[in-house]
Amino acid sequence: MEKLVIEGGQKLRGEISVSGSKNATLPVLAATLLTDKPCVIHNVPRLRDTLTMIKLLRSLGKSAVLEGDKVIVSKPTTSYVADYKLVSTMRGSFCVFGPLLAKFRQASVSLPGGCVIGIRPVDLHIKGVMGLGAKIHVESGYVHAKANKLKGTYIYLGGTFGSSVLATANVMMAATLASGVTIIDSAACEPEVVDLGNFLNAMGAEVMGHGTPQITVRGVKSLHGAEYKIGPDRIEAGTYVLMAAATKSDITIKNLNPTHIMALLHHVQEAGVSYKQKGHTVKITSRKNLKPVSLTTYPYPGFPTDLQAQFMALMATTPGVSVITEKVFPDRFIHIAELNRMGAKIRREGYSAIIEGVKSLYGAPVMASDLRASAALVIAGLAAKGRTEIHRIYHLERGYENMDEKLRGLGAKVWKEKE
Ligand code: UD1
Repeated sequence: MEKLVIEGGQKLRGEISVSGSKNATLPVLAATLLTDKPCVIHNVPRLRDTLTMIKLLRSLGKSAVLEGDKVIVSKPTTSYVADYKLVSTMRGSFCVFGPLLAKFRQASVSLPGGCVIGIRPVDLHIKGVMGLGAKIHVESGYVHAKANKLKGTYIYLGGTFGSSVLATANVMMAATLASGVTIIDSAACEPEVVDLGNFLNAMGAEVMGHGTPQITVRGVKSLHGAEYKIGPDRIEAGTYVLMAAATKSDITIKNLNPTHIMALLHHVQEAGVSYKQKGHTVKITSRKNLKPVSLTTYPYPGFPTDLQAQFMALMATTPGVSVITEKVFPDRFIHIAELNRMGAKIRREGYSAIIEGVKSLYGAPVMASDLRASAALVIAGLAAKGRTEIHRIYHLERGYENMDEKLRGLGAKVWKEKE
């Protein structure tokens, strides 16, 4: 096991390039199960989670090879059973459910279970495919779905906490091979859903309205192979924006889609950070003392829950009081305790965190608990005085490509050490 060591207090400078989106890659790779023809996916980030999805594809009969940032998927899909061992390590694996059901008219996928950010049920995924005509039973930790025929219909997919990204993905994929027209209402509008819809269309599907709350899928008889380039990772881009903000630095972030991080840019600007956007590049300038800013997370285009912990790390070092409310995963506050170990003053009240920003944090040994919480600890460590050691960094490696290397390129004193 490795730990990440950070000597805090360094200013960042220079340029970094954003990798392909992890959360777009996972459903796009799952969609290759819909065809037996070869598919080539470009701009795939080399991450623990993408490697897990590649393993899962292989366990379902595919050949999947990662060459540089390209994944070549070929060979027929031969199994409709997604095993507990792989699904339990990554919740995103559940997005093989829709394609397997569409392809075989049956699917058995292990229930992903809870994780540190909350319970994370799959009722909306199940509701969606039942709408298409699948019969479901849950037994021994697996969701089994079976349908003689999948038939297009109207499906309202909104849940208690709004739309669901992966439920939208699963229902979209299942509907591509159903007969007739499916309308998914209250669909997730996240850019990752747009990537998936575009890839499905490149495979010969007829998906319309992806990126809006109402998606229409006209079923087709079969899908063919396709080549596709994954879009940039907006959460990685946003994390680097917050790193620059917290260390009062100027950096240039290349290769991103600035429209995907508008909610974040708006909030950091309100705090006093300036940004200039030109094409696929954003220049961040953070010099003066920042102001506290309160926010609430929402589904896209609202402020993303996947940047909540990182924004909290910034507010922890911004004198004054701010309130961060979590409306997507109401229990996603595990990072508070670790930030407090570094001198932050944060307390939880229901679905909100009250942050009394301090002048500076101090380095400390801390524990990564989930992917985005780990990124928050990196931000805190970069801004803190002294040395921070982050243990269990495999969480970070699930979602950030070469973060230590990219940070060293910006002049940060960051390195990995064996535990
Ligand atoms: C995806 C992202 C994750 C991000 C999340 C919200 C991937 C691989 N993961 O996860 O990084 O944090 O979107 O932007 O893309 N819910 C239900 N019933 C369901 C499904 C979800 O109640 O059947 C609830 C969840 O518990 C949560 C909310 O809906 O409160 C949104 O979750 P959802 O959008 O489904 O998250 P994921 O798609 O799993």
